[in-house]
Amino acid sequence: MKIIDKKQLAPGIVQFLVEAPLIAEKAEPGNFIILRHKEEGERIPLTIADFDREQGTITLVCQGIGKSTQEINEMQKGEAFLDLLGPLGIAYPIKKVGTVACVAGGLGVAPLYPKAKALHQAGNRVLSMIGAQRKEMLIMTEEMTAVSDQISFSTDDGSFGHHGFVTDLLRQTLEKEDVQEIVAVGPVPMMAAAVKVAKEFKVPIVVSLNALMIDGTGMCGGCRVTVGGETKFCCVDGPAFDGALVDFKELMSRQRYYHEQEQEALHRCRLEEAGK
Ligand code: FES
Repeated sequence: MKIIDKKQLAPGIVQFLVEAPLIAEKAEPGNFIILRHKEEGERIPLTIADFDREQGTITLVCQGIGKSTQEINEMQKGEAFLDLLGPLGIAYPIKKVGTVACVAGGLGVAPLYPKAKALHQAGNRVLSMIGAQRKEMLIMTEEMTAVSDQISFSTDDGSFGHHGFVTDLLRQTLEKEDVQEIVAVGPVPMMAAAVKVAKEFKVPIVVSLNALMIDGTGMCGGCRVTVGGETKFCCVDGPAFDGALVDFKELMSRQRYYHEQEQEALHRCRLEEAGK
């Protein structure tokens, strides 16, 4: 699982090109992998942001938030991850429906890109909207532009594109375009807001959920979400679900569950680094 190339996309966000021929052979848009960078490393789920079957490579994008993801992002070209498990999850169904609005917030661009690319290749008109906190946090803009018929950007601080939320762009698009489907990926509050707008305009919306994961094979229950009143597992039933049916309130509270422990691990890591 050798790192063939590494690129800094934004502060704290790194893109890796990884040699993984068996995964590349089977990967489809919507799939993800679980990565362990070292023996005692955490199991980190990362979306397959792109794949090349001929070269036998996959592209991963990692945001250094916790101890393990920060260590992963420090790894260099030529080094190798300990193991990658995948492709996991159900592939996103690609159909020709007409016009599709592809909406991403923050790191959500990485899982959105392979879907937008496949939707575009299938002959759909792809209208993309990408949001980030500030200009330097916008990632994969060239790749997204290449697979979009129209693209617009938003930043929370107004440093690039629309000053405001990406869901404002979605609303503006739905006001003037006849959109058959929306795909939204990003932070949970952003996806919940996108679903609200989609419901208002009565357009079907698919979201890709980034629930906490451990095994990634449906065994631990860590990634459970409630969809349409039923318990589903993101890793084996998703990660894409009908946004209108997802219980976002529950998902948000589950995501905060280990916040304290994560902060503690990060703090310990910083103390170790400082040699204290
Ligand atoms: S990660 Fe364990 S059930 Fe999905």
